[in-house]
Amino acid sequence: MSDVKWIDHTYDVVVVGAGGAGLRATLGAAQAGLKTACVTKVFPTRSHTVAAQGGIAASLGNMGDDNWRWHMYDTVKGSDWLGDQDSIEYLCREAPKAVYELEHWGMPFSRTEDGKIYQRPFGGMMQNMGKGPPAQRTCAAADRTGHAMLHTLYGQSLRRSAEFFIEYFVLDLIMEDGACRGITAWKLDDGTLHRFRAKTVILATGGYGRTYFSCTSAHTCTGDGGGMVLRAGLPLQDPEFVQFHPTGIYGAGCLITEGCRGEGGYLTNSEGERFMERYAPSAKDLASRDVVSRAMTIEIREGRGVGKDKDHIYLHLDHLDPEVLADRLPGISESAKIFAGVDVTKEPIPVLPTCHYNMGGIPTNFHGEVVTKKGRDPDAVVPGLMAVGEAACVSVHGGNRLGSNSLIDLVVFGRAAGLRCGELLDASESQPELTEDAGADSYARLEKFRTADGKKSTASIRLDMQKTMQDHCAVFRTDESLAEGVKKMTKVAATMKDIGVTDRTLVWNTDLVETLELDNLMGNAQVTMSAASARKESRGAHASEDHPDRNDKTWMKHTLAWVKNGKVKLGARPVHDYTMTDDIEYIKPAKRVY
Ligand code: FUM
Repeated sequence: MSDVKWIDHTYDVVVVGAGGAGLRATLGAAQAGLKTACVTKVFPTRSHTVAAQGGIAASLGNMGDDNWRWHMYDTVKGSDWLGDQDSIEYLCREAPKAVYELEHWGMPFSRTEDGKIYQRPFGGMMQNMGKGPPAQRTCAAADRTGHAMLHTLYGQSLRRSAEFFIEYFVLDLIMEDGACRGITAWKLDDGTLHRFRAKTVILATGGYGRTYFSCTSAHTCTGDGGGMVLRAGLPLQDPEFVQFHPTGIYGAGCLITEGCRGEGGYLTNSEGERFMERYAPSAKDLASRDVVSRAMTIEIREGRGVGKDKDHIYLHLDHLDPEVLADRLPGISESAKIFAGVDVTKEPIPVLPTCHYNMGGIPTNFHGEVVTKKGRDPDAVVPGLMAVGEAACVSVHGGNRLGSNSLIDLVVFGRAAGLRCGELLDASESQPELTEDAGADSYARLEKFRTADGKKSTASIRLDMQKTMQDHCAVFRTDESLAEGVKKMTKVAATMKDIGVTDRTLVWNTDLVETLELDNLMGNAQVTMSAASARKESRGAHASEDHPDRNDKTWMKHTLAWVKNGKVKLGARPVHDYTMTDDIEYIKPAKRVY
């Protein structure tokens, strides 16, 4: 029996996280008449979605012909055929609906002359089933699209009486007999401990970019949902697929949107050459991100990088009309000034591929239900548990995500999760009581870290982890470097037992928050390194120098990765080689050229 003083709450649906996916799921569940809570460690409009710049993909056809099938083709090709085509069909078909909903809720999109939503070209987005020309498919609110989305969805969620628990740090899932029954949480400002009982928990905790030394992700992107899932004995899927965005500001890591290249920006090397013409003769600077990041890395390696140390690349916007820059790209003009000291109307921006997005995550079906492999069933639903957004792997991005397919993933699958809750749950039905010791393990873990008095600081272990990931699991990978990375990560993870937390209270203890976040990051980092080491092919963002080709015969499968007793265990589940309806046929694997 536990002596913890839990404060208990009961909801039909509890959403963890208040970024674009969490808010859209919260809103959807509340719209379905379900008693809904959203529990979040940061104020909703400060969630990392706020940093999404360039836009949200949907085949509205406002600026040229477009069609959801073309969007689907590009997404399948972008994924390097690792995406599940039933989920990709769902994403691309539902995308316009999800965008029009945002518009009707007041999202301040940029506009065309005739008042339609403005759309810009983004990498890998083409017309005519990949044949081209480029499609203008990315709907934008200048270069602050995520910011506009968060404000819209938060306002609508409040309007629907969803309840928010803000600055509550969610500790763990409460699992009973393989089903999720709720979560435990720590309220940061007063130190109280809470149990939320729910018919369904939806994890929308974002990615784990902070496992890397240099990333575009906020400091809050610590893979908390993935950490909880691993501790619950469930697997993560495809963690080896980590996206490096071509244009992070050199040194600072802040994002400079792909929308810059969509508006006509281009990259040059130290010879002033527009080198992307050699690597992607057709799409050039608007090839998909993995292709551009690899090309930039090769240019630097071969001595054609710019700057004193020849270790970065230039992004030019200085040839664009200053009015276009002010109107369409005001945010990055400001970021370039602040973080690189550059006036974009006059000078190029120094940029470098920077860790940006996790294609892998918590495996789900296209309703957002968490799935796992059980006996012969590769798609067995975990009762009471859903995941959406970057925390999830649905899998629409497969081996590589196309720019602006992230924001649409958030709202399409956030919406799908809300709809599924509406179908499956009945607000008038009661739910069983939690057992008295529910959450005891979670409390024990909190206490273990609160009282930890080892010699290593959280910051030093975090730095060891980040350097290991950056050195061994970045844009290009080799068998040798990954094998060494696995050994190093195992050692770094083991140092968690020597951690010392300096503050013993439960009130605003930021050292303890960062330690719990590090514990979450560590599991994500371990499975990423091990899964990357195991995959002996190149596909999407996983570029192996020892295995340069895609190998569909052996590797056309999703990785599943568990952590058991501190060790990673790997398995697999099949890629869905079928579509959702007969309206489109399975898109067969082909060579991926841009
Ligand atoms: O480049 C960007 O604006 C980022 C968009 C995305 O990651 O989808």
